[in-house]
Parts: sequence; C-alpha cells; structure tokens
Amino acid sequence: MFKPFVAGILFTLVAGLVGAFLFVEMGMMPANADGRPPALERWAAHTSLRATLRRDSPKGPNPAALNDENMKAGIKLYAMDCAVCHGAADGKPSDIAMGLYQHAPQLARDGVEDDPAGVTYWKIKHGIRLTGMPSFTKAMTDQQIWQVVLFLQNMDKLDPAMEKAWKAVPSHGGKEELGAWRKGHDGDHDHDGRMPAKS
Ligand code: HEC
Repeated sequence: MFKPFVAGILFTLVAGLVGAFLFVEMGMMPANADGRPPALERWAAHTSLRATLRRDSPKGPNPAALNDENMKAGIKLYAMDCAVCHGAADGKPSDIAMGLYQHAPQLARDGVEDDPAGVTYWKIKHGIRLTGMPSFTKAMTDQQIWQVVLFLQNMDKLDPAMEKAWKAVPSHGGKEELGAWRKGHDGDHDHDGRMPAKS
C-alpha cells in the first residue's frame, strides 16, 4: 500500500521535471522581450518581490536629511543613472524604456512618492530580478542611494530651485531632442551617424 504511493509521488515528480525540461529546451518558454508577460509569470514575480520587500527592506525613515545638498545630489545621480529608463520631467519614455520587458515606469508620471523609503532604497540597491531594473550596489554608496530616494520621495513637491534643477535634466524621450543634440555634434559624425575614420 505504502510503496506504490511513494512510487507514484516519485513518478509524478520525475515526469514533472522532465516535462519542465522539455518545455524550456524545446523553446516553448518565450524568450522575447516584446510581449506582455503571462499571468503566471506576473503573479510569481510580484508575489516574490512583495514577500522579499516585506522581509528585507529597511524600515523607518530616510536617513538622508531633507536639504538642498542631498536633493541636488539625488537629482544629479538620477540624471546620470536613471533618466535613460525612468525618464525626465517631461515623462516621455526613451526608446530603451519602451523596449524593456517589463516596461520601465516613467517616474515623473507614475512616481513612487507614496512608497516607504526603505522599499525604494531596496529596489535601487538590489535591483529587480528578471526585469531591466539594475542593482546599484556596486555603483553607489548607501548615502548616494538614500539621496536618490530622497529625490524620488519628494519629486512632486520640490521647492522652486530644486524644481528648476529637475526640469534641466535632459530627456531621452522624443526624437526632436535627440535631433537637436545630433545637430550640435555634426562635425563628429558622417551622414550615417558613424564616427569618421581616423585620418
Ligand atoms: C536599464 C533600465 C533601468 C535603469 C537604468 C533603472 N531602472 Fe529602475 N526600473 C526599471 C524597470 C524595467 C523597472 C520595472 C520593474 C518591474 O516591473 O518590476 C524599474 C523599477 C524601478 C522602481 C520601482 C517602480 C515602481 O513603480 O514600483 C524604482 C523606484 C526604480 N526602478 C528606481 C530606479 C532608480 C532610482 C534608478 C537609477 C539609480 C533606476 N531605477 C535605474 C529599469 C531601469
């Protein structure tokens, strides 16, 4: 009675593993980035992220004080490392942001002001697995990450001087701005946009 039961469980496990292996090996698990994620994938990704954040994100307020120095540093870091995917103040997605799987939210339109500071800190420090969201643990100090968090927490309520600094962050979205940039670099490129051969 007991033996066939165990054998049954083992058979099911092995069949499941072989099935999963064949599913992946035969290319039935999509590898493209230009589709909408299936429901099961969305559920697994969101649920594991939520559970990890509940367990691992630091609790409590942002240790970076709300002052111009920290805010300016946060805006500058954002311009260098984040705007290409998350957009500038105009909220226009770049070509890269639109093509990512998952799409990168344009934070000027769809911000994270209401998220706890520690949650945003965790996402920037560790990144989000199986999405384009990189981990910045090697690129930034903890203090720098908290400065970016400070900016993201206050993006919708900046004082006029900081609002000006935010508006000055160059947009990567929209071809007109890139066109204008290109004109300024005419001498550097031939007509195909390639660098001329060194003479
Ligand atoms: C290469 C593109 C890329 C770069 C660069 C990038 N991100 Fe992301 N980020 C993403 C993507 C894609 C997601 C969406 C992940 C998802 O759907 O779970 C994301 C998600 C986030 C989220 C969560 C948004 C939400 O609504 O919950 C925050 C916050 C964030 N990024 C902040 C940053 C910051 C700050 C930087 C710069 C230090 C940065 N990201 C750089 C691609 C990027």
